[in-house]
Amino acid sequence: MSSEKTNQSWGGRFSEPVDAFVARFTASVDFDKRLYRHDILGSQAHARMLAEAGVLSSAERDAIVAGLDEIRGEIEAGTFEWRVDLEDVHMNIEARLTERLGVVGKKLHTGRSRNDQVATDIRLWLRDEIDAILAELNRLQAGLLQLAEAEADTIMPGFTHLQTAQPVTFGHHLLAWFEMLSRDHERLLDCRRRVNRMPLGSAALAGTTYPIQRQVTCELLGFEAIGGNSLDGVSDRDFAIEFCAAASLAMMHLSRFSEELVLWTSAQFQFIDLPDRFCTGSSIMPQKKNPDVPELVRGKTGRVFGALTGLLTLMKGQPLAYNKDNQEDKEPLFDAADTLRDSLRAFADMVPAIKPKREIMREAARRGFSTATDLADYLVRKGLPFRDCHEIVGHAVKYGVDSGKDLAEMSLDELRRFSDQIEQDVFAVLTLEGSVNARDHIGGTAPAQVRAAVQRGRELLAQR
Ligand code: ARG
Repeated sequence: MSSEKTNQSWGGRFSEPVDAFVARFTASVDFDKRLYRHDILGSQAHARMLAEAGVLSSAERDAIVAGLDEIRGEIEAGTFEWRVDLEDVHMNIEARLTERLGVVGKKLHTGRSRNDQVATDIRLWLRDEIDAILAELNRLQAGLLQLAEAEADTIMPGFTHLQTAQPVTFGHHLLAWFEMLSRDHERLLDCRRRVNRMPLGSAALAGTTYPIQRQVTCELLGFEAIGGNSLDGVSDRDFAIEFCAAASLAMMHLSRFSEELVLWTSAQFQFIDLPDRFCTGSSIMPQKKNPDVPELVRGKTGRVFGALTGLLTLMKGQPLAYNKDNQEDKEPLFDAADTLRDSLRAFADMVPAIKPKREIMREAARRGFSTATDLADYLVRKGLPFRDCHEIVGHAVKYGVDSGKDLAEMSLDELRRFSDQIEQDVFAVLTLEGSVNARDHIGGTAPAQVRAAVQRGRELLAQR
Protein backbone atom coordinates (compact mmCIF):
# COMPACT_ATOMS: atom_id res chain seq x y z
CA MET A 1 0.00 0.00 0.00
CA SER A 2 1.30 3.45 -0.83
CA SER A 3 2.38 5.76 1.96
CA GLU A 4 -0.53 8.06 1.08
CA LYS A 5 -2.86 5.68 2.83
CA THR A 6 -0.64 4.73 5.77
CA ASN A 7 1.59 6.82 8.00
CA GLN A 8 4.66 7.70 5.95
CA SER A 9 7.04 7.23 8.89
CA TRP A 10 6.11 3.69 9.80
CA GLY A 11 3.49 2.56 7.27
CA GLY A 12 5.74 0.08 5.45
CA ARG A 13 4.55 -3.07 7.20
CA PHE A 14 0.90 -2.03 7.37
CA SER A 15 -1.77 -3.19 4.96
CA GLU A 16 -4.50 -0.75 5.93
CA PRO A 17 -4.49 2.81 7.20
CA VAL A 18 -4.95 3.35 10.89
CA ASP A 19 -8.52 3.91 12.03
CA ALA A 20 -9.36 7.62 12.02
CA PHE A 21 -10.34 7.65 15.67
CA VAL A 22 -7.31 5.62 16.68
CA ALA A 23 -5.11 8.11 14.83
CA ARG A 24 -6.56 10.92 16.91
CA PHE A 25 -6.54 8.85 20.08
CA THR A 26 -2.86 7.96 19.81
CA ALA A 27 -1.67 11.36 18.56
CA SER A 28 0.14 13.71 20.93
CA VAL A 29 0.79 16.65 18.61
CA ASP A 30 -1.90 18.82 20.18
CA PHE A 31 0.12 19.01 23.38
CA ASP A 32 3.68 18.02 22.46
CA LYS A 33 4.01 20.71 19.80
CA ARG A 34 5.13 23.00 22.57
CA LEU A 35 8.41 21.03 22.53
CA TYR A 36 9.18 22.23 19.00
CA ARG A 37 12.12 24.48 19.91
CA HIS A 38 13.85 21.78 21.89
CA ASP A 39 13.02 19.15 19.29
CA ILE A 40 14.75 21.27 16.65
CA LEU A 41 17.76 21.91 18.90
CA GLY A 42 18.12 18.18 19.49
CA SER A 43 17.81 17.40 15.78
CA GLN A 44 20.38 20.01 14.80
CA ALA A 45 22.87 18.64 17.32
CA HIS A 46 22.18 15.11 16.07
CA ALA A 47 22.78 16.17 12.43
CA ARG A 48 26.04 17.89 13.37
CA MET A 49 27.20 14.81 15.22
CA LEU A 50 26.27 12.54 12.27
CA ALA A 51 28.40 14.70 9.98
CA GLU A 52 31.32 14.51 12.37
CA ALA A 53 30.91 10.74 12.47
CA GLY A 54 30.97 10.64 8.67
CA VAL A 55 27.35 9.44 8.39
CA LEU A 56 26.15 12.68 6.76
CA SER A 57 28.11 14.88 4.39
CA SER A 58 28.74 18.44 5.48
CA ALA A 59 26.41 19.66 2.71
CA GLU A 60 23.65 17.39 4.02
CA ARG A 61 24.26 18.61 7.56
CA ASP A 62 24.10 22.25 6.50
CA ALA A 63 20.87 21.70 4.56
CA ILE A 64 19.26 19.98 7.55
CA VAL A 65 20.38 22.59 10.08
CA ALA A 66 19.20 25.47 7.86
CA GLY A 67 15.95 23.67 7.00
CA LEU A 68 15.18 23.19 10.67
CA ASP A 69 15.88 26.87 11.36
CA GLU A 70 13.35 27.77 8.70
CA ILE A 71 10.78 25.37 10.12
CA ARG A 72 11.23 27.02 13.51
CA GLY A 73 10.53 30.31 11.76
CA GLU A 74 7.34 28.90 10.20
CA ILE A 75 6.12 27.60 13.55
CA GLU A 76 6.79 30.94 15.26
CA ALA A 77 5.14 32.85 12.44
CA GLY A 78 2.07 30.62 12.76
CA THR A 79 2.26 29.36 9.17
CA PHE A 80 3.27 25.79 10.04
CA GLU A 81 0.48 23.28 9.47
CA TRP A 82 0.32 20.81 12.37
CA ARG A 83 -1.14 17.50 11.20
CA VAL A 84 -2.76 15.06 13.60
CA ASP A 85 -2.22 12.24 11.10
CA LEU A 86 1.51 12.78 11.66
CA GLU A 87 1.02 11.91 15.32
CA ASP A 88 3.49 14.04 17.19
CA VAL A 89 5.81 17.02 17.11
CA HIS A 90 8.74 14.88 15.99
CA MET A 91 7.09 13.46 12.86
CA ASN A 92 5.44 16.75 11.97
CA ILE A 93 8.78 18.52 11.89
CA GLU A 94 10.56 15.67 10.12
CA ALA A 95 7.84 15.40 7.47
CA ARG A 96 8.08 19.12 6.81
CA LEU A 97 11.87 18.87 6.54
CA THR A 98 11.51 16.11 3.97
CA GLU A 99 8.91 18.15 2.11
CA ARG A 100 11.44 20.99 1.89
CA LEU A 101 14.68 19.03 1.34
CA GLY A 102 13.55 15.81 -0.29
CA VAL A 103 15.68 12.74 0.38
CA VAL A 104 18.18 14.61 2.61
CA GLY A 105 15.40 15.29 5.11
CA LYS A 106 14.84 11.58 5.43
CA LYS A 107 18.44 11.08 6.55
CA LEU A 108 18.05 13.05 9.78
CA HIS A 109 16.54 10.11 11.65
CA THR A 110 19.61 7.92 11.06
CA GLY A 111 20.89 6.38 14.31
CA ARG A 112 18.10 7.64 16.51
CA SER A 113 14.51 6.87 17.41
CA ARG A 114 11.60 8.92 18.61
CA ASN A 115 12.17 7.13 21.89
CA ASP A 116 15.50 8.80 22.64
CA GLN A 117 14.38 11.91 20.77
CA VAL A 118 11.36 12.57 23.00
CA ALA A 119 13.28 11.80 26.19
CA THR A 120 15.91 14.32 25.05
CA ASP A 121 13.30 16.95 24.16
CA ILE A 122 11.52 16.80 27.52
CA ARG A 123 14.78 17.09 29.41
CA LEU A 124 15.90 20.11 27.38
CA TRP A 125 12.47 21.70 27.85
CA LEU A 126 12.34 21.03 31.59
CA ARG A 127 15.86 22.39 32.08
CA ASP A 128 14.72 25.73 30.62
CA GLU A 129 11.53 25.66 32.67
CA ILE A 130 13.45 25.06 35.90
CA ASP A 131 15.67 28.03 35.09
CA ALA A 132 12.64 30.26 34.52
CA ILE A 133 11.03 28.99 37.75
CA LEU A 134 14.23 29.64 39.71
CA ALA A 135 14.27 33.21 38.38
CA GLU A 136 10.72 33.81 39.73
CA LEU A 137 11.68 32.17 43.00
CA ASN A 138 14.64 34.55 43.32
CA ARG A 139 12.41 37.52 42.65
CA LEU A 140 9.92 36.39 45.31
CA GLN A 141 12.67 35.79 47.85
CA ALA A 142 14.22 39.21 47.18
CA GLY A 143 10.78 40.76 47.77
CA LEU A 144 10.43 38.93 51.07
CA LEU A 145 13.82 40.20 52.23
CA GLN A 146 12.90 43.75 51.34
CA LEU A 147 9.61 43.56 53.26
CA ALA A 148 11.20 41.73 56.20
CA GLU A 149 13.81 44.46 56.54
CA ALA A 150 11.16 47.19 56.53
CA GLU A 151 9.10 45.26 59.12
CA ALA A 152 11.93 44.08 61.37
CA ASP A 153 10.49 46.04 64.33
CA THR A 154 6.80 45.45 63.61
CA ILE A 155 5.21 43.37 66.33
CA MET A 156 2.44 40.86 65.74
CA PRO A 157 1.10 37.88 67.64
CA GLY A 158 2.83 34.60 66.86
CA PHE A 159 0.45 31.66 66.81
CA THR A 160 0.34 28.01 67.69
CA HIS A 161 -2.97 26.22 67.12
CA LEU A 162 -4.00 29.57 65.59
CA GLN A 163 -4.23 30.85 69.18
CA THR A 164 -2.08 33.78 70.30
CA ALA A 165 1.16 32.31 71.62
CA GLN A 166 4.04 34.80 71.91
CA PRO A 167 4.82 38.11 70.26
CA VAL A 168 6.96 37.92 67.14
CA THR A 169 8.13 40.47 64.65
CA PHE A 170 6.43 40.58 61.27
CA GLY A 171 9.86 40.55 59.64
CA HIS A 172 10.60 37.27 61.41
CA HIS A 173 7.36 35.77 60.17
CA LEU A 174 8.17 36.80 56.58
CA LEU A 175 11.58 35.19 56.88
CA ALA A 176 9.97 31.86 57.77
CA TRP A 177 8.55 31.88 54.26
CA PHE A 178 11.95 32.88 52.89
CA GLU A 179 13.45 29.83 54.58
CA MET A 180 10.89 27.45 53.02
CA LEU A 181 11.54 28.90 49.58
CA SER A 182 15.31 28.49 50.04
CA ARG A 183 14.77 24.76 50.46
CA ASP A 184 12.61 24.75 47.31
CA HIS A 185 15.44 26.42 45.44
CA GLU A 186 17.91 23.78 46.64
CA ARG A 187 15.58 20.96 45.65
CA LEU A 188 14.92 22.32 42.16
CA LEU A 189 18.60 22.89 41.55
CA ASP A 190 19.39 19.37 42.68
CA CYS A 191 16.63 17.99 40.47
CA ARG A 192 18.07 19.95 37.53
CA ARG A 193 21.30 17.93 37.75
CA ARG A 194 19.42 14.73 37.01
CA VAL A 195 17.24 16.38 34.37
CA ASN A 196 20.43 17.41 32.63
CA ARG A 197 21.63 13.94 31.56
CA MET A 198 21.49 12.93 27.92
CA PRO A 199 19.47 9.98 26.65
CA LEU A 200 20.16 10.80 22.96
CA GLY A 201 22.04 7.90 21.40
CA SER A 202 19.96 5.28 23.19
CA ALA A 203 18.02 5.03 19.90
CA ALA A 204 14.95 2.79 20.19
CA LEU A 205 16.25 0.86 23.20
CA ALA A 206 19.53 -0.92 22.47
CA GLY A 207 21.75 1.80 21.03
CA THR A 208 22.66 2.03 17.36
CA THR A 209 25.00 0.42 14.85
CA TYR A 210 26.23 3.79 13.55
CA PRO A 211 29.50 5.19 14.86
CA ILE A 212 27.74 7.91 16.89
CA GLN A 213 29.78 10.22 19.09
CA ARG A 214 27.66 10.90 22.11
CA GLN A 215 30.17 13.28 23.69
CA VAL A 216 29.63 15.56 20.68
CA THR A 217 25.85 15.84 21.09
CA CYS A 218 26.27 16.04 24.86
CA GLU A 219 28.50 19.07 24.51
CA LEU A 220 26.40 20.72 21.79
CA LEU A 221 23.26 20.44 23.91
CA GLY A 222 24.92 21.44 27.18
CA PHE A 223 24.09 18.23 29.02
CA GLU A 224 26.15 17.52 32.14
CA ALA A 225 26.47 13.80 31.51
CA ILE A 226 25.61 11.00 29.09
CA GLY A 227 23.07 8.43 30.21
CA GLY A 228 24.92 5.19 30.92
CA ASN A 229 22.35 2.66 29.70
CA SER A 230 20.23 2.83 26.58
CA LEU A 231 17.28 0.88 28.04
CA ASP A 232 17.14 3.22 31.02
CA GLY A 233 17.76 6.21 28.75
CA VAL A 234 14.55 5.79 26.76
CA SER A 235 12.35 4.76 29.67
CA ASP A 236 13.51 6.83 32.65
CA ARG A 237 11.08 9.52 33.74
CA ASP A 238 12.42 9.87 37.31
CA PHE A 239 13.49 13.41 36.51
CA ALA A 240 9.89 14.41 35.72
CA ILE A 241 8.63 12.81 38.91
CA GLU A 242 11.36 14.50 40.94
CA PHE A 243 10.45 17.80 39.41
CA CYS A 244 6.78 17.32 40.30
CA ALA A 245 7.78 16.34 43.85
CA ALA A 246 9.87 19.50 44.24
CA ALA A 247 7.06 21.52 42.63
CA SER A 248 4.52 19.96 45.00
CA LEU A 249 6.53 21.00 48.04
CA ALA A 250 6.93 24.51 46.66
CA MET A 251 3.18 24.74 45.98
CA MET A 252 2.43 23.37 49.45
CA HIS A 253 4.53 26.24 50.83
CA LEU A 254 2.71 28.76 48.66
CA SER A 255 -0.62 27.33 49.83
CA ARG A 256 0.34 27.92 53.48
CA PHE A 257 1.52 31.40 52.61
CA SER A 258 -1.79 31.93 50.74
CA GLU A 259 -3.87 30.75 53.65
CA GLU A 260 -2.24 33.27 55.98
CA LEU A 261 -2.75 36.09 53.49
CA VAL A 262 -6.41 35.13 53.18
CA LEU A 263 -6.81 35.10 56.96
CA TRP A 264 -4.92 38.33 57.44
CA THR A 265 -6.92 40.30 54.89
CA SER A 266 -10.19 39.23 56.54
CA ALA A 267 -12.23 41.69 58.59
CA GLN A 268 -11.57 39.49 61.63
CA PHE A 269 -7.76 39.87 61.44
CA GLN A 270 -7.11 42.97 59.35
CA PHE A 271 -3.36 42.48 59.69
CA ILE A 272 -2.59 43.46 56.11
CA ASP A 273 -4.02 45.09 53.06
CA LEU A 274 -3.46 43.77 49.54
CA PRO A 275 -3.56 46.33 46.75
CA ASP A 276 -6.73 46.27 44.66
CA ARG A 277 -4.88 45.00 41.60
CA PHE A 278 -4.44 41.60 43.28
CA CYS A 279 -8.06 41.32 44.37
CA THR A 280 -11.50 41.14 42.79
CA GLY A 281 -14.97 42.19 43.82
CA SER A 282 -18.30 40.44 44.10
CA SER A 283 -21.08 40.86 41.55
CA ILE A 284 -23.70 40.86 44.30
CA MET A 285 -22.05 42.18 47.49
CA PRO A 286 -20.72 45.66 46.78
CA GLN A 287 -18.52 45.81 49.87
CA LYS A 288 -16.43 42.77 48.96
CA LYS A 289 -12.76 42.76 48.11
CA ASN A 290 -11.65 39.18 47.74
CA PRO A 291 -8.03 37.95 47.94
CA ASP A 292 -8.37 35.93 44.73
CA VAL A 293 -4.68 35.55 43.94
CA PRO A 294 -3.79 33.74 47.19
CA GLU A 295 -7.04 31.77 47.07
CA LEU A 296 -6.35 30.59 43.54
CA VAL A 297 -2.77 29.63 44.33
CA ARG A 298 -4.02 27.68 47.35
CA GLY A 299 -6.45 25.89 45.04
CA LYS A 300 -3.94 25.27 42.24
CA THR A 301 -1.72 23.38 44.66
CA GLY A 302 -4.01 20.39 44.16
CA ARG A 303 -3.31 20.04 40.48
CA VAL A 304 0.45 19.88 41.06
CA PHE A 305 0.00 17.14 43.69
CA GLY A 306 -2.22 15.46 41.07
CA ALA A 307 0.59 15.63 38.49
CA LEU A 308 2.97 13.98 40.94
CA THR A 309 0.54 11.19 41.75
CA GLY A 310 -0.29 10.79 38.06
CA LEU A 311 3.34 10.41 37.00
CA LEU A 312 4.20 7.99 39.79
CA THR A 313 1.21 5.88 38.80
CA LEU A 314 2.15 6.14 35.11
CA MET A 315 5.58 4.68 35.75
CA LYS A 316 4.63 2.08 38.34
CA GLY A 317 5.12 -1.42 37.02
CA GLN A 318 6.22 -0.39 33.51
CA PRO A 319 8.52 -2.98 31.96
CA LEU A 320 11.64 -1.80 30.15
CA ALA A 321 12.07 -0.03 27.85
CA TYR A 322 9.90 2.60 26.12
CA ASN A 323 6.14 2.07 26.28
CA LYS A 324 3.46 4.22 24.70
CA ASP A 325 2.23 4.91 28.25
CA ASN A 326 5.08 7.39 28.46
CA GLN A 327 3.33 9.72 26.07
CA GLU A 328 1.08 10.48 29.04
CA ASP A 329 4.02 12.06 30.88
CA LYS A 330 3.77 15.40 29.11
CA GLU A 331 0.47 16.97 30.07
CA PRO A 332 0.90 16.62 33.85
CA LEU A 333 4.51 17.75 33.62
CA PHE A 334 3.64 20.79 31.51
CA ASP A 335 0.78 21.66 33.82
CA ALA A 336 2.87 21.34 36.98
CA ALA A 337 5.60 23.57 35.53
CA ASP A 338 3.13 26.19 34.26
CA THR A 339 1.25 26.23 37.56
CA LEU A 340 4.34 26.63 39.71
CA ARG A 341 5.84 29.27 37.45
CA ASP A 342 2.64 31.34 37.31
CA SER A 343 2.01 31.03 41.04
CA LEU A 344 5.54 32.18 41.86
CA ARG A 345 5.21 35.02 39.42
CA ALA A 346 1.95 36.19 41.00
CA PHE A 347 3.50 36.04 44.47
CA ALA A 348 6.68 37.79 43.38
CA ASP A 349 4.54 40.64 42.03
CA MET A 350 2.27 40.75 45.07
CA VAL A 351 4.58 40.38 48.07
CA PRO A 352 6.38 43.75 47.83
CA ALA A 353 2.92 45.37 47.68
CA ILE A 354 1.67 43.88 50.98
CA LYS A 355 0.70 46.73 53.32
CA PRO A 356 0.93 45.72 56.98
CA LYS A 357 -1.48 47.40 59.41
CA ARG A 358 1.03 47.78 62.19
CA GLU A 359 -1.28 49.18 64.88
CA ILE A 360 -3.79 46.39 64.48
CA MET A 361 -1.06 43.73 64.59
CA ARG A 362 0.40 45.28 67.70
CA GLU A 363 -2.97 45.53 69.42
CA ALA A 364 -3.63 41.86 68.63
CA ALA A 365 -0.29 40.92 70.17
CA ARG A 366 -1.03 43.00 73.27
CA ARG A 367 -4.28 41.16 73.81
CA GLY A 368 -4.19 37.44 74.47
CA PHE A 369 -1.51 37.33 77.22
CA SER A 370 1.24 36.84 74.68
CA THR A 371 3.94 37.74 77.23
CA ALA A 372 2.88 35.06 79.73
CA THR A 373 5.94 32.93 78.92
CA ASP A 374 8.14 35.98 79.49
CA LEU A 375 6.69 36.36 83.00
CA ALA A 376 7.38 32.70 83.71
CA ASP A 377 10.97 33.06 82.45
CA TYR A 378 11.33 36.17 84.66
CA LEU A 379 10.37 34.12 87.73
CA VAL A 380 12.82 31.39 86.72
CA ARG A 381 15.55 34.04 86.70
CA LYS A 382 14.48 34.91 90.26
CA GLY A 383 15.28 31.34 91.25
CA LEU A 384 11.93 29.51 91.03
CA PRO A 385 11.56 26.16 89.22
CA PHE A 386 9.91 26.54 85.80
CA ARG A 387 6.92 24.29 86.61
CA ASP A 388 6.03 26.44 89.63
CA CYS A 389 6.40 29.58 87.53
CA HIS A 390 4.05 28.11 84.92
CA GLU A 391 1.45 27.58 87.65
CA ILE A 392 1.86 31.09 89.11
CA VAL A 393 1.49 32.73 85.72
CA GLY A 394 -1.52 30.53 84.99
CA HIS A 395 -3.25 32.03 88.04
CA ALA A 396 -2.32 35.54 86.92
CA VAL A 397 -3.77 34.88 83.47
CA LYS A 398 -6.99 33.55 84.98
CA TYR A 399 -7.23 36.73 87.05
CA GLY A 400 -6.60 38.74 83.89
CA VAL A 401 -9.33 36.93 81.98
CA ASP A 402 -11.81 37.54 84.83
CA SER A 403 -10.87 41.19 85.32
CA GLY A 404 -10.38 42.02 81.63
CA LYS A 405 -6.74 43.07 82.10
CA ASP A 406 -3.65 42.04 80.20
CA LEU A 407 -0.57 41.21 82.31
CA ALA A 408 1.09 44.52 81.51
CA GLU A 409 -2.04 46.39 82.63
CA MET A 410 -1.94 44.97 86.16
CA SER A 411 -0.41 46.96 88.99
CA LEU A 412 2.62 45.69 90.86
CA ASP A 413 0.40 44.93 93.88
CA GLU A 414 -1.94 42.91 91.71
CA LEU A 415 0.94 40.92 90.25
CA ARG A 416 2.54 40.34 93.63
CA ARG A 417 -0.60 38.50 94.74
CA PHE A 418 0.68 35.63 92.62
CA SER A 419 4.33 35.76 93.70
CA ASP A 420 6.28 37.98 96.05
CA GLN A 421 9.30 37.51 93.78
CA ILE A 422 7.72 39.94 91.32
CA GLU A 423 9.23 43.41 91.47
CA GLN A 424 9.12 46.69 89.57
CA ASP A 425 11.53 45.39 86.91
CA VAL A 426 8.83 42.97 85.72
CA PHE A 427 7.27 45.62 83.51
CA ALA A 428 10.26 45.69 81.18
CA VAL A 429 9.65 41.98 80.62
CA LEU A 430 5.92 42.33 80.03
CA THR A 431 6.24 44.80 77.17
CA LEU A 432 6.04 43.50 73.63
CA GLU A 433 9.41 45.03 72.75
CA GLY A 434 11.01 43.45 75.81
CA SER A 435 9.58 40.11 74.79
CA VAL A 436 10.82 40.08 71.19
CA ASN A 437 14.18 41.70 72.02
CA ALA A 438 14.85 38.96 74.56
CA ARG A 439 14.82 36.29 71.85
CA ASP A 440 18.15 37.45 70.58
CA HIS A 441 19.93 34.45 69.06
CA ILE A 442 20.38 33.06 65.55
CA GLY A 443 16.92 32.19 64.26
CA GLY A 444 15.16 34.18 67.00
CA THR A 445 12.54 36.90 66.52
CA ALA A 446 14.48 39.90 67.92
CA PRO A 447 14.61 42.79 65.41
CA ALA A 448 18.41 42.68 65.48
CA GLN A 449 18.27 39.00 64.49
CA VAL A 450 15.78 39.74 61.72
CA ARG A 451 18.18 42.31 60.28
CA ALA A 452 21.06 39.84 60.50
CA ALA A 453 18.94 37.16 58.80
CA VAL A 454 18.04 39.58 56.01
CA GLN A 455 21.75 40.15 55.52
CA ARG A 456 22.42 36.41 55.32
CA GLY A 457 19.51 36.05 52.88
CA ARG A 458 20.96 38.75 50.62
CA GLU A 459 24.30 36.95 50.60
CA LEU A 460 22.57 33.69 49.72
CA LEU A 461 20.75 35.28 46.78
CA ALA A 462 23.96 36.94 45.57
CA GLN A 463 25.73 33.54 45.44
CA ARG A 464 23.12 31.98 43.15
N1 ARG B 1 4.83 10.84 20.95
C1 ARG B 1 5.64 9.85 21.58
C2 ARG B 1 5.75 10.14 23.07
O1 ARG B 1 5.43 11.20 23.45
C3 ARG B 1 7.00 9.85 20.97
C4 ARG B 1 7.70 8.54 21.06
C5 ARG B 1 6.96 7.52 20.28
N2 ARG B 1 7.67 6.31 20.15
C6 ARG B 1 7.09 5.19 19.66
N3 ARG B 1 7.80 4.16 19.59
N4 ARG B 1 5.82 5.17 19.35
O2 ARG B 1 6.16 9.33 23.86
